[in-house]
Amino acid sequence: MTHNIAVIGGDGIGPDVTTEAIKVIRAAGVDIATTEFDLGGDRYLRDGEILSDEMLDALRPFDSILLGAVGHPDVKPGVIERGLLLKMRFDLDLYINQRPFLGTAPGGAAPHDFIVIRENTEGPYVGEGGALRVGTPHEVATQGSVNTRFGVERCIRYAFELAVTRERKHVTLVHKTNVLSFAGDLWQRTFDEVAAEYPQVATAYNHVDAACIYFVQDPHRYDVIVTDNLFGDILTDLGGAVSGGIGLASSANLNPARTGPSMFEPVHGSAPDIAGQNKANPTAAILSAALMLDFLDEGAAADRIRAACAQPVTGSTTDVGDAIAARVGN
Ligand code: IPM
Ligand code: MN
Repeated sequence: MTHNIAVIGGDGIGPDVTTEAIKVIRAAGVDIATTEFDLGGDRYLRDGEILSDEMLDALRPFDSILLGAVGHPDVKPGVIERGLLLKMRFDLDLYINQRPFLGTAPGGAAPHDFIVIRENTEGPYVGEGGALRVGTPHEVATQGSVNTRFGVERCIRYAFELAVTRERKHVTLVHKTNVLSFAGDLWQRTFDEVAAEYPQVATAYNHVDAACIYFVQDPHRYDVIVTDNLFGDILTDLGGAVSGGIGLASSANLNPARTGPSMFEPVHGSAPDIAGQNKANPTAAILSAALMLDFLDEGAAADRIRAACAQPVTGSTTDVGDAIAARVGN
């Protein structure tokens, strides 16, 4: 079966690393047809297109979307991030951001293996708020956080469904219920209610600040973590840092209801300073492609790719891509 993949290389090192990811998918014997979408900062500077509704509609029929990176030094920060990346997450209802972490923390003795499930369509990312009297001494800025029972519950439920497939069957809620009392209360009550439906799954709760300590000092305590959009954003950079570096951190933006394509991207950014120089580590993009293959029911190929990425490899972007491609081909 041919999988139709929309490829958005995007900005900076994005095209460099997605090229290697596609190379590895093909080497693993998975049949894909790719269609490139020229989107990102360069396109925006050329003709103003970020991600129009027409462009979004053109993406909808694809089986999935592979994204490199967004963020361009000549474009005001946030314009492409919100207009392209967040627009896809929101409008394609990619309500789960799944980020696996495997590795050994700097002080850690044994390898850890945990997955962060980040709510991906609500929280402070909705852009609720505004500014008054900008630039004056009386300037006011508000930034709301939207948390719905529906959105929180479907995210927590996904985390529990994932936990039952894993050996340890453990879910930790991470929030800041002691201070963010309204949102925290909704998250905690929903978590407790969903947990009651999964007696085989053990649970824990950590405040997000404490979770930062445990990520570094005791990541083994974690199996599945479920958390809000912004906490998940911050924690997953830390997760990358304690799991071999951000160059290995993969992510899946999922619409588990499958009402449209899901989107797969490395956690890292566009690194414009090394773009096009064959220097970027493509492993995070390759591991994101493996997550895509899991979702496309190509789990055996995905496992081969993960195994190939687990063996050390050094060199340029293309060296690493070639080495991993050679391994999965065998
Ligand atoms: C991420 C990124 C994005 C986010 C940015 C680029 C908007 O940091 O995917 O983690 O904050 O979600
Ligand atoms: Mn981030």
